[in-house]
Amino acid sequence: MRDLVSSICKGAKVIPVVVIENVEDAVPLARCLVDNGLPAVEVTLRTPAALDAIKAIVNEVKDCIVGVGSILSEEQLKASIDAGAHFGVSPGTSETLLNALKATDWPFLPGSGTVSEMMTLREAGFQELKMFPASIVGGVGMLKAVSGPVGDISFCPTGGVKPENAEEYLSQKNCFAVGGTWIAPLADVNAKNWDAIAERAKAASKLGQA
Ligand code: 3PG
Repeated sequence: MRDLVSSICKGAKVIPVVVIENVEDAVPLARCLVDNGLPAVEVTLRTPAALDAIKAIVNEVKDCIVGVGSILSEEQLKASIDAGAHFGVSPGTSETLLNALKATDWPFLPGSGTVSEMMTLREAGFQELKMFPASIVGGVGMLKAVSGPVGDISFCPTGGVKPENAEEYLSQKNCFAVGGTWIAPLADVNAKNWDAIAERAKAASKLGQA
């Protein structure tokens, strides 16, 4: 039985999506996010440093719930599980990746952008999906539209989610969390601008509480 990402993330409403280019930034970044109210983070596999960054956070920031994002292949799925991460995320769903996912019960948010993908993933047993790129595939309107036909699926929309629209996403009954890069953009991470990230994390931690 696969645990739900929403329960792994202890109900966190905002999951920062981060890109880490320098391994040394991983622990201070995760510490900053957790200390400012965001216990879960999605570290994308978009840089050579990503897996080492994930391992560093898993080993050194024990109160951080570490997700691995941008998983595209079976190899990346295995490497992410081996790194000790708590859950995985993919931007979309290929047949190969779906078959690999069926062979494990590792908590996972597969990406979906169409009703057909939602149906395929639902049939594969997933109750929670990433909706990506959310603003392009219809945003809040898409969530509302699918809440009837696939009403037992809950989403984490990412892609174009910002402080200005996050609350509207989170007020939908089929949206358990949102994700995005606005909290810790790469430029701020590379500049070790922890104060700016802390401010945005604090504000983001208040979203979805109404
Ligand atoms: C992701 O991988 O979820 C996206 O890169 C996040 O998109 P954003 O930059 O629009 O927040």
